[in-house]
Amino acid sequence: MSGADPRAARAQRPPAEVRHADELARLRADDTDPRPPGWVLSLRAARRFILGDPAAGITRKFVGDPSLIDRALVALATSRGLMLVGEPGTAKSLLSELLAAAVSGDSTLTIQGGASTTEDQIRYSWNYALLVADGPSPRSLVPAPLLRGMAEGRLVRFEEITRCPLEVQDCLLSPLSDRVLAIPELPGPAAMVFAREGFNVIATANTRDRGVNEMSAALKRRFNFETVFPIPDIATELDLVEAEATALLRRSGVTVAPRRDVLEVLVTTFRELRTGITERGDAMERLSAVMSTAEAVSVAHAVGLRGWFLRGEPGEAADVVACLAGTAAKDDAEDLARLRRYLEQQVPRRSGAQWQALHHARHLLPG
Ligand SMILES: Nc1ncnc2c1ncn2[C@@H]1O[C@H](COP(=O)(O)OP(=O)(O)OP(=O)(O)O)[C@@H](O)[C@H]1O
Ligand SMILES: [Mg+2]
Repeated sequence: MSGADPRAARAQRPPAEVRHADELARLRADDTDPRPPGWVLSLRAARRFILGDPAAGITRKFVGDPSLIDRALVALATSRGLMLVGEPGTAKSLLSELLAAAVSGDSTLTIQGGASTTEDQIRYSWNYALLVADGPSPRSLVPAPLLRGMAEGRLVRFEEITRCPLEVQDCLLSPLSDRVLAIPELPGPAAMVFAREGFNVIATANTRDRGVNEMSAALKRRFNFETVFPIPDIATELDLVEAEATALLRRSGVTVAPRRDVLEVLVTTFRELRTGITERGDAMERLSAVMSTAEAVSVAHAVGLRGWFLRGEPGEAADVVACLAGTAAKDDAEDLARLRRYLEQQVPRRSGAQWQALHHARHLLPG
C-alpha cells in the first residue's frame, strides 16, 4: 500500500489511504471474504470501509444509499468503468477517492480533467533529455496515471472528465474496451501495455458543467453511470457538517467548534437557498450559486475560524452571515440581493435565538 511516503501524513489533506491507514490495515487483516483479482480488499470489506461499521471501529466516510456503493463496487469489478455524476459538492470526488483507496490501496493515480488536459497527462510522455540521448526506450518514458494504473493493476481516477476536449477523452477507449495501451514509439513487446488485473477507471462529472464538453457515445458505452444525490434529510446533513467542520477545525488548531444550534441555522439556510423551499414547505427564491453540502462544510469551517482567531470564542450566527457572502455571491450579482432578501424577509419569521442573531447580523453582508 502507498502509505509509505511520510510527507503525505503532514500534508494539509493526506490521501484517504493515509488518513485512514489504520482502518484499512485492520480491514485487510480480518478480510476472509473472496476478492476480485487484483483487489486489496473484498467487496464487503470495501463497503464497510466506505459506509462504516461502528462495531469494528470503522467510521462512516460517505453518507448515502448503501446500494449505490454496492453497485459502484460491482461495476469496478467488471470490465466497464464507473462514472459518478451529480450536482456539484455531493461528494463524487470523495467517493471516488474512497473507492480507489479501498480497492487498490492507493487513490493518487488521478487525472484532473480540464479544457487544457492533454493525452500526455493521461497516458505517458517522455523525458526529453533521455529521449535525445537514448531514443525512445522504457527509460525515457514518463508514465502518466493511466499507464501506471494499467501496468500496476490499480484504479485510475479521472476527475471532471467532461471538461476535457472530446478527442482527449477518447484516448480512454481502447484501455477500457481492449484493456491495452499502445506505445508505438517503443520497439518490440514494450509497445503494448496490457492492463493487469485490478485496473479500472472511476470518472466523475458534474451535471452543471456537463454541457461544456459532452461525452462521446462510444465512451459512454464503456462506463456504468451512477448518480450521486444530495443528502435528503436535514438531520443527516447537519451531523455530517458538524463532524466534518469539527475535524477541519481541529486540523486548523481550533478546538472549539460552533454550537450545534448555530450549525443548524447554517445548514437550514443552505438547504433553503439550494432548493428554494423553506423548511415549512413554502416556496422562496433560490440562489443560482451552488449551495452544496461541501460548501456548507467549508462555511462552517470558516465560521469556526473567524470566531476563534478573531475573538477567541466559538463561531456564531453573525459569523455565518459574514462567511456566506463569499459562497453565495460568486458569479451572479443578483445572488447577493437574493441573500439579502432572505435575511430580511424569511429569517425573521423563524423563532429561536440563532435565527434572530442571523437577522440582526444582516448588515455584515458586503455591498
Ligand atoms: N454524502 C456525503 N458524504 C460525505 N461527505 C459529503 C457528502 N456530501 C458532501 N460531503 C462533503 O463534501 C465534501 C466532498 O466534496 P467533493 O469535492 O467530493 O464533491 P464533488 O461532488 O466532487 O464536487 P464537485 O462537483 O464540485 O467536484 C466532503 O469532503 C464532505 O465534507
Ligand atoms: Mg469533484
